[in-house]
Amino acid sequence: MTNSTTAGASAPAPLTARTTALTVHQTARPDGFPTREHFAFVESEIPAPTPGTALVETLYLSVDPYHREMMDGDFELNAPLEGRTLGRVIASREPSLREGEIVLHRQGWRTHALVAADEVRRIPAFDGVPLNAHLSVFGGTGLTAYVGLTRIAQLREGQDLFVSAAAGGVGTATGRFAKLLGAGRVVGSAGTLEKVEYLTDEVGYDAAFDYRAGPVGEQLARVAPDGIDLMVDNVGGEHLAAGITALREFGRVVRIGTVGQYNTPDSPPVLFNHADVVEKSLRIEGFLVRNHYDVQQELYEFAVPHLQAGRLRLDETVVDGFESIVDAFSSMLRGGNVGKMIVRA
Ligand SMILES: NC(=O)c1ccc[n+]([C@@H]2O[C@H](COP(=O)([O-])OP(=O)(O)OC[C@H]3O[C@@H](n4cnc5c(N)ncnc54)[C@H](OP(=O)(O)O)[C@@H]3O)[C@@H](O)[C@H]2O)c1
Repeated sequence: MTNSTTAGASAPAPLTARTTALTVHQTARPDGFPTREHFAFVESEIPAPTPGTALVETLYLSVDPYHREMMDGDFELNAPLEGRTLGRVIASREPSLREGEIVLHRQGWRTHALVAADEVRRIPAFDGVPLNAHLSVFGGTGLTAYVGLTRIAQLREGQDLFVSAAAGGVGTATGRFAKLLGAGRVVGSAGTLEKVEYLTDEVGYDAAFDYRAGPVGEQLARVAPDGIDLMVDNVGGEHLAAGITALREFGRVVRIGTVGQYNTPDSPPVLFNHADVVEKSLRIEGFLVRNHYDVQQELYEFAVPHLQAGRLRLDETVVDGFESIVDAFSSMLRGGNVGKMIVRA
């Protein structure tokens, strides 16, 4: 694996040279899908570093489904939103943070952030790996997929897998990693025919279906007529029920997220066959990636050589312009992305 020190020199400049800072605040709680009316762009002076801090200019931002979950109550109103952000140190009064360094922090939806040394992670530079990969396949998205397969599912060679929300960030990384780890038949679901074709033509899924085109259970039975060993579930509801039905004896469900419910929390839960869990000796296990950051180095060691050799590719939708962040976020929740949704500031 080729690994120089930290990313920096090759990183692009922001799209807009700014004389003031912009920060996005949530101003109201959405009931259903969020819209522009739930947010405000707040302008201020670019802050100057205080002793022990550095000023970081944002280059790339991650918009994630968990933001939607937190907008129901966890995020304070009229305060900056948090989120994973890649930026460059442009001024520093903290000796360990040098000007020009690229860092990852969680201060989120803003063009400039004042950070302390313990608030940032330095990003390693790998030859041929673009910076944005640290928000997709090497970021929380890729780490979630890798932990899901290796730690929770404990995927073994030849095992057959069903992935829901397969064309998103976690879903594409899961499909690609599963194949590289020696999975058998990998099938997935997505919300459009174009995404279904992308999964089979580009990502390496053996089969996929459009979950809007008919009952998920029937469609899954068609693409996986002999059943599955594992389900990686990003959606919940009808997808989860279908996966449980399709699982073979000793099968496992890795519960990653419930994106089917974040904008419709009052929709009735879809029931699954509880007896199946006993009679097929199934295991259903969820996890949060934040409890698995110790696997990050292993992910680099696994994925970087595959990426450098062209066996692994990035699946990303990159939206240009910090001012597009709210639209990019809303679009991702409605399925407007293929792969990881990233905003380039
Ligand atoms: N456990 C963890 O630590 C962890 C970490 C990261 C992410 N996650 C979870 O992983 C899942 C995927 O996250 P991501 O960041 O990779 O997002 P993503 O899949 O890139 O984007 C969300 C996707 O969800 C799909 N979707 C939206 N509404 C849906 C519905 N009603 N039914 C089925 N699919 C729907 C859309 O694709 P379609 O066009 O296919 O509908 C959309 O592209 C989410 O549930 C997220 O909360 C969990």
